Amino acid sequence: MRAFKHLIYGGLLAAAISPAMADDGEKIYKQGGSQPGALACVTCHMPDGKGMDAGGFPKIAGDSAVYLSKQIHDFKKGLRENAIMLPIASALTEEEIKAVTQYMSSLDKVQVPEITRAKTPEGLGEQLAIRGDWSRSIPECVACHGPGGVGVGDTFPPLAGQGAKYLAAQLHAWQQGTRKNDQNDLMGHIARSLTEEEIIAVADYFAGLGK
Ligand code: HEC
Ligand code: HEC
Repeated sequence: MRAFKHLIYGGLLAAAISPAMADDGEKIYKQGGSQPGALACVTCHMPDGKGMDAGGFPKIAGDSAVYLSKQIHDFKKGLRENAIMLPIASALTEEEIKAVTQYMSSLDKVQVPEITRAKTPEGLGEQLAIRGDWSRSIPECVACHGPGGVGVGDTFPPLAGQGAKYLAAQLHAWQQGTRKNDQNDLMGHIARSLTEEEIIAVADYFAGLGK
């Protein structure tokens, strides 16, 4: 009977999920999850969700909850190898992942200036970003990541306003095979085709775009 009551109570909670989850998400973000390993996200991802690039802590503010949740599962599965996020991701329950990613997604995005592909690229970073290098089968980044790198839907994360150190680290991770979580190895192919100079240039370019 007790278990039954619990089920009904759970059902009622689910019905009222939006406001309840928003509160839970904020609580997990600021104070951590129910299990000891689920550290408070705010310590590294910062109160505004803009991260802290010196520590390699990414911005998560305003990103798609679906994308963020996928990343947490990818850390757990080892498709994205990271010594800091593995124990944290593993200590979050499914409910907690849902709630906290919704909260992250609700934080204010960075502002990105309008940059069309018609613009004449200035410098190596912008050249790659809006033209790519088709002689080496490198598509322009904005083809998937959107104009100015603002991100598109649940699949293509924003690059604008993300930290330069973090962006370069991700491209290195794909080169080294420690991040292998994208469909059809699209990013793997791109990262392996880029030179070190190009990685630094394109990371600096997108980091400089968002405020
Ligand atoms: C001790 C610092 C630290 C704490 C605390 C922390 N993170 Fe992270 N987080 C990181 C680092 C570092 C990365 C980048 C890992 C990498 O380079 O792959 C990251 C990456 C992420 C990403 C991927 C972002 C992207 O753009 O792909 C998500 C999602 C994430 N963290 C969620 C969380 C959640 C949820 C919490 C709290 C429950 C949390 N993090 C707590 C350090 C931290
Ligand atoms: C064909 C589509 C496509 C193109 C073109 C593309 N990307 Fe990506 N990129 C993706 C996808 C998909 C992801 C997310 C993978 C995942 O699920 O983790 C991604 C993720 C990334 C990330 C990780 C972001 C984060 O928050 O962790 C970086 C950095 C990145 N791309 C850089 C670039 C750069 C630089 C270029 C241009 C040289 C580029 N991408 C071009 C599809 C693309």
